[in-house]
Amino acid sequence: MRLATRTILAPTATLCLLALVSACGGDDAKAQRRSFSVPAARKEANDLYQSLCSTCHGPSGRGDGPGAAACDPKPRTFLDVAWQSSVTDEHIVKTVTFGGAAVGKSPQMPAQPQLKGKTEVLQHLVAIVRGFAAQ
Ligand code: HEC
Repeated sequence: MRLATRTILAPTATLCLLALVSACGGDDAKAQRRSFSVPAARKEANDLYQSLCSTCHGPSGRGDGPGAAACDPKPRTFLDVAWQSSVTDEHIVKTVTFGGAAVGKSPQMPAQPQLKGKTEVLQHLVAIVRGFAAQ
């Protein structure tokens, strides 16, 4: 009988301990908020790339969207590894937020002032541009 009580009590005590440990997880709550906002930012960036950027830069970053025909100079291919390593993430963020003219490039590359301060969306847009080089 003593043995049986112990076998039941031990797992119960472990469960209580686990519950206590996870209850005081302030960081957990923070992590949950983060993981909620990151996919939202990623979705916003993906949607923006598909609805706007791809019209000139093409769905696979080759600079072959329908709008590219009217561009002079043409948008470069993002698959160009040499170009990728010649620009910083900050430069891409600046180009996207303030437009081509702000970085000495074509004014046909439009500014997106509504993204100013939307760090996570901009980071995901940079990741999309960078991602094409890996193809
Ligand atoms: C109306 C067509 C058009 C749209 C829409 C557009 N771009 Fe561009 N983009 C261009 C052109 C043209 C260039 C090339 C400019 C040059 O080389 O002078 C360019 C250049 C760039 C560059 C390279 C800058 C450099 O230093 O070489 C990046 C990065 C870029 N665009 C990202 C984006 C992103 C992200 C979006 C969507 C938010 C976007 N573009 C929307 C036309 C467009």
